[in-house]
Amino acid sequence: MPESFFILSKDYLELATDEIISIVKMYDRFAKIKIISNLIIIQSKTNWKEITKRATFVKTSGQILRKMSGLFLDEDNFQVLKNTKSFVCRVVNLSSNQLNVPELESSMGDMISKFTHAKVNLKNPDITVYLIFTNKENFFGFSEKNEEMKHPKKSKKYPHELDWKLTRVMINLIGLKKGETLCDPFCGTGTTLLESESMGINAIGIDFDVKMCEMSKENLKINSYKSKILNSDFQELVKISNDFNGIVTDLPYGRSSKASEKPEEVLKRFISIIPKGKKIAIMYKKELDPKMKLKGLKKYHIYRHKSLTRTILIK
Ligand SMILES: C[S@@+](CC[C@H](N)C(=O)[O-])C[C@H]1O[C@@H](n2cnc3c(N)ncnc32)[C@H](O)[C@@H]1O
Repeated sequence: MPESFFILSKDYLELATDEIISIVKMYDRFAKIKIISNLIIIQSKTNWKEITKRATFVKTSGQILRKMSGLFLDEDNFQVLKNTKSFVCRVVNLSSNQLNVPELESSMGDMISKFTHAKVNLKNPDITVYLIFTNKENFFGFSEKNEEMKHPKKSKKYPHELDWKLTRVMINLIGLKKGETLCDPFCGTGTTLLESESMGINAIGIDFDVKMCEMSKENLKINSYKSKILNSDFQELVKISNDFNGIVTDLPYGRSSKASEKPEEVLKRFISIIPKGKKIAIMYKKELDPKMKLKGLKKYHIYRHKSLTRTILIK
């Protein structure tokens, strides 16, 4: 079974790790996952590029060619470079040993140059060869030039809008698949709908503020996306609950966004109508946690500034 590696950014490491696990399990529930700090090793039939395309916090990823206890590589290990024009070597040191990374990279480069006709290209190589060191084992792997990820554009912005990364992570944490449908009953400027459609997931947005609905529509239009927008109270989702598989939403905070009632009232009313059997990822102000005593599979706390920490609840 092919093995691949994913080095995650250390911002939001818990979220990033759970996101990768959720994506991997969504594609292949028999996949084997090993976590070594911010390095994730996956044994799965799913190609690492598929997983990387969905994930938010992957810094580097690729395929593993060999595990090694020392540093011995021979010609056979460089087969992958046989028909390659250019390459670069990268050493990732996640071990507690001090390593001379530039020296290792350059000696590995020299070794590869002897075995192949490929030339070193630091800026835009066809193949990046990785040596990853951990305290237990070392990995030798590679990645090919990745097609640039196109991110949805946004022409209409608003102070309360959610960061696209947290939005994308919430969608991934509930493992919505391509072709499924998501509902955001507090869609605002449409961040969730844009992220969702960029991953091939259909979306329905609801917002009681007509100005927000217009902004969402505009943002969808410039990306040629087709999500439905309903100008209504979030309660509308009960009527359309057969039309979606999951809810991903960011509830009002009661400051820059208009709200029909106080944030705690909105949250309380919202919880009371959540349809059964749906995958749910919701975000709200952490202060509301003790008042609501919400049960879920998992909660994450995201510090934004001294008066705002958000909770992400996965159900
Ligand atoms: C925090 S904002 C959502 C921001 C959104 N995630 C974005 O990126 O733009 C909350 C939204 O809830 C909407 N809202 C407040 N009360 C509502 C209600 N009762 N029903 C539907 N929408 C409501 C507000 O108009 C606002 O757009």
